[in-house]
Amino acid sequence: MNLESNFCGLKLENPYILASAPPTASIEMIDRAFEAGWAGVVTKTIKPDYMEIKDASPRFHALKEGNRVIGFENFELVSKMDLAYWEKGIKELRDKWPTKAIIVSIMGDCNEESWADLAKWAQKAGAQALELNFSCPHGMPEKGVGAAIGQNAPITEKITRWVCDAVEIPVIVKLTPNVTSVVTIAEAAIRGGADALAAINTVESLTGVDLKTLTPYPMVQGQSTLGGFSGPAVKPIGLRVISQLARETDLPLSAMGGISTWADAMEYIALGGNHVQVCTEVMVSGFGIIKKMLKGTEDYMNEMGFKSFDDFRGVASAKLTAHHSLQKTETVIPELNNDLCTKCGKCVTACRDGGYQAISFIDKMINISEDQCDGCALCTLVCPEKALTMPLKEKSA
Ligand SMILES: Cc1cc2nc3c(=O)[nH]c(=O)nc-3n(C[C@H](O)[C@H](O)[C@H](O)COP(=O)(O)O)c2cc1C
Repeated sequence: MNLESNFCGLKLENPYILASAPPTASIEMIDRAFEAGWAGVVTKTIKPDYMEIKDASPRFHALKEGNRVIGFENFELVSKMDLAYWEKGIKELRDKWPTKAIIVSIMGDCNEESWADLAKWAQKAGAQALELNFSCPHGMPEKGVGAAIGQNAPITEKITRWVCDAVEIPVIVKLTPNVTSVVTIAEAAIRGGADALAAINTVESLTGVDLKTLTPYPMVQGQSTLGGFSGPAVKPIGLRVISQLARETDLPLSAMGGISTWADAMEYIALGGNHVQVCTEVMVSGFGIIKKMLKGTEDYMNEMGFKSFDDFRGVASAKLTAHHSLQKTETVIPELNNDLCTKCGKCVTACRDGGYQAISFIDKMINISEDQCDGCALCTLVCPEKALTMPLKEKSA
């Protein structure tokens, strides 16, 4: 099985690259990521030296299920390193790792000179492609950058064009999910000349409120601000965005949002992603997760009989249709496996108060009334033993 993929002329040795974020914030970290097996990186977003930034502390908060981080909020700004640091480091990395991809994420000020100069600088420094950060929800919108760009189609088009006119290397526009129509913004980027799209950046969020101090998290000296949400909880939003972009545009897609396993990555590629980017899972579990991801990917592709990602990409997207086109000829009744059922009654309660009152206990056994059942599948989702399943139906001719 060939794990390689081609992205805007860039050869990726496997489909896993690191997203622009803390794991790509220094040359030393990128060097270790390459050593671990990542095929490429998008650097932490680089800004012009004259733009001053100062991060708040603390700036992270997590939504947890037990000990597992299922969602992660941050209001971190862009790279604190200056251009000279990155210039020297990118050259060293290119020399040491000729087969890895180095994509430089940039965020200019709101004028053409700033974006064009930064883009030209990155190209000269050795970037193999640029990713334009139009999408950071807390990324200084008061200065007209970050999501302030990616939430406005004419500005997205204009800045994309400024950058595309300034450089020869591929230009990737990174989109925010925090818009009414991501396709409208993608189309603006395409009109501006984008070679590819990346999505999603973080989802604007507020993860909670401390009920003792009555302060939202994360608390910065008694105050807080809205942040960006990432990690497993945002995967459904990322998958939705990638499926829309795959259906409505022809550009290659760098897909991300909540990827923590090889299986998450395969879902994104099945929906049309060219390859994937990972951030939060690496922040939580380290660069070493790539080994398991590569093994899982290879085993899965072999098991499924796919020879390359070109055969696999988008196969699930083809099965997505409009609601009005779905078949509604038959109500699918759940099947109960009595050997697995512990008679806990969760399905009875859920069906009674959230469904169609089709499940009840009769003689201490679970009974499903086919006449009453509306086929919604709620019972299968609340059953802790997976004793209830919805039988798969082939699409009838
Ligand atoms: C702490 C943190 C900092 C981030 N910084 C940047 C950044 O500088 N530029 C950028 O384009 N995206 C940034 N991101 C967004 C990630 O690149 C990615 O789009 C997002 O986290 C979704 O992927 P994930 O669920 O794998 O984390 C950041 C995310 C986190 C959690």
